[in-house]
Amino acid sequence: MHSDPPLQPVELEVGELRLRPWRADDVDDAWHVFQDEQVRRWGGPVVESREDVVAWLDRRLEPAPDRVSWAVVDTTTGALAGSAGFSFVDLDEGQAMVGYWTAPAHRGRGLAPVAVDAVCRRLFATTTVDRIELFHAIANVASGRVAEKAGFTWEGRLRRSHRYAGVKLDQFLWARLADDPPPALSSRS
Ligand SMILES: CC(C)(COP(=O)(O)OP(=O)(O)OC[C@H]1O[C@@H](n2cnc3c(N)ncnc32)[C@H](O)[C@@H]1OP(=O)(O)O)[C@@H](O)C(=O)NCCC(=O)NCCS
Repeated sequence: MHSDPPLQPVELEVGELRLRPWRADDVDDAWHVFQDEQVRRWGGPVVESREDVVAWLDRRLEPAPDRVSWAVVDTTTGALAGSAGFSFVDLDEGQAMVGYWTAPAHRGRGLAPVAVDAVCRRLFATTTVDRIELFHAIANVASGRVAEKAGFTWEGRLRRSHRYAGVKLDQFLWARLADDPPPALSSRS
């Protein structure tokens, strides 16, 4: 039996975005984003208080072998613009699940696809993961666009496969393989 080393959210620069480790002082910006109706509806963390956000951040500050998350910062303003990362990272199976959100004021600029592509390339380049899965509720059309633009291939519909805000909904499954062609991407300001 062996234990895998923790995954590190090493800082990544891509265009006008910086992907960096989360910091304890992200709490107010994260709290603000978690009030957003879309984030709450589509599987964002359920936070009722600032303390819940502190606990959410503490989890991200603690390196782990099966998950890793980056804060996405707009370098032109320094603002927290989004999040991208992985959970269920299984280095033996070579699999991981990607997750992401964009702060409301930053949506529609192609930011999430760029951030998702960057963290996927990083995971492929530095670990044994060669397949990354992406799930979203079928009504979350914007998330499907992120999948497509970030180089994922649609693989199917998973019926009543995840509970969103208490209701089990069908999801689409997408996957990107390490040797899939990388997407042609650029974020818009
Ligand atoms: C899904 C999400 C991450 C997209 O992030 P983004 O940085 O806006 O991504 P894009 O700019 O590439 O836009 C993706 C799609 O969002 C929609 N969109 C465009 N402008 C938008 C805006 N101002 N507000 C909301 N959605 C918008 C469009 O359908 C767009 O697709 P298109 O480029 O083909 O027109 C973001 O809407 C979000 O955080 N949603 C709530 C949380 C969530 O759903 N997370 C994913 C869970 S699986």
